[in-house]
Amino acid sequence: MALSDPFGRQFHYVRLSITDVCNFSCDYCLPDGYQCDGDRNFLSVDEIRRVSRAFANLGVKKIRITGGEPSLRKDLPEIIQTVAQTPGIERVALTTNGHKMARHLDKWQAAGLHAINVSVDSLNPHVFHQITGHNSLTDILDAMNTAQAMPFDRLKLNAVLMKGVNAHELESYMGWLKDKKISLRFIELMETGDTRDFFKKHHSSGQAIVDHLIANGWEQVQRGVTAGPAQEYWHPDWKGRVGVIMPYSKDFCESCNRLRMSSRGDLHLCLFTEHGLSVRHLMQKDEDIPLLMQRLQELLHQKHATHYLPEHQVGATRNLSSIGG
Ligand code: GTP
Ligand code: 5AD
Ligand code: SF4
Repeated sequence: MALSDPFGRQFHYVRLSITDVCNFSCDYCLPDGYQCDGDRNFLSVDEIRRVSRAFANLGVKKIRITGGEPSLRKDLPEIIQTVAQTPGIERVALTTNGHKMARHLDKWQAAGLHAINVSVDSLNPHVFHQITGHNSLTDILDAMNTAQAMPFDRLKLNAVLMKGVNAHELESYMGWLKDKKISLRFIELMETGDTRDFFKKHHSSGQAIVDHLIANGWEQVQRGVTAGPAQEYWHPDWKGRVGVIMPYSKDFCESCNRLRMSSRGDLHLCLFTEHGLSVRHLMQKDEDIPLLMQRLQELLHQKHATHYLPEHQVGATRNLSSIGG
């Protein structure tokens, strides 16, 4: 059984947000830092167990745990273990800002984590501080080095491209990565409700990076069914790959393969076009798992063909931290 939508797309990959709290204040996401509305009623481990089971029964093979910043939850190792032990789930991944990585890598790995994506928007400590409000660049890069020596099957470094901020750092990223088993992902800045002015000033196309890679002998990789939305490239002299996520390019949504579950139990069919669709009431009892599965498949019929980003419709999304990126 596979979750599918009216356009024939199948969904083997779920991004599960476990909190919307974040301790960083990245300019493109939470420029004023996390604003607490007093409601911290995030999905419990039992709710996560049931929703993971429902998705797995519907053919989902990969769950990426996101936030906000997921490592701010003390029960993260238990959550990783719960998801990893769900029959049918083959890969559990984590997206983190890396702030707590050094201290917790062992526990995450022991709990069954396969892959980690870390946001590192600049390799220059001053620029990193300017973007995130934190001075932890060196610690994060050291933790990435430690993780490399551990049995994770995929490590990735994410950088959001920003004109006038970091868009000129390609060479330093390539130098840092040369001998590492770490892939690099450049993400085009996306416009959200809270960051319209920032977007106008700093949006930079990923095409220049693609052109540079091709001119330097990098070759395009074929996408797998649970792969991210990036166009990926490989080169015989590099262990890691380089990918570029270009949500404003034509046909981007044709290969959409992921769904999002917010930390409050709302299904998001797309990063941009609708409000969340609450299914939390169906996560309360094991007996409801079949009803939850049925509801998830029904809701898929509401998924649109594309996010209409070319018309600059940012929809209901104020920032990506609220729905897990
Ligand atoms: P994998 O590593 O293959 O699991 O996927 P990923 O690169 O999508 O994971 P990650 O959490 O590192 O995602 C980084 C960012 O890519 C997201 O937060 C978004 O900014 C962007 N992104 C991921 N999926 C989508 C998508 O479906 N649509 C759009 N517009 N952007 C996405
Ligand atoms: N545009 C592009 N990427 C974003 N992210 C968060 N907000 C945006 C945005 N407006 C990215 C982070 C992180 C991932 C989870 O989402 O940098 O790598
Ligand atoms: Fe899919 Fe929406 Fe992402 Fe487009 S923006 S690829 S429709 S989730």
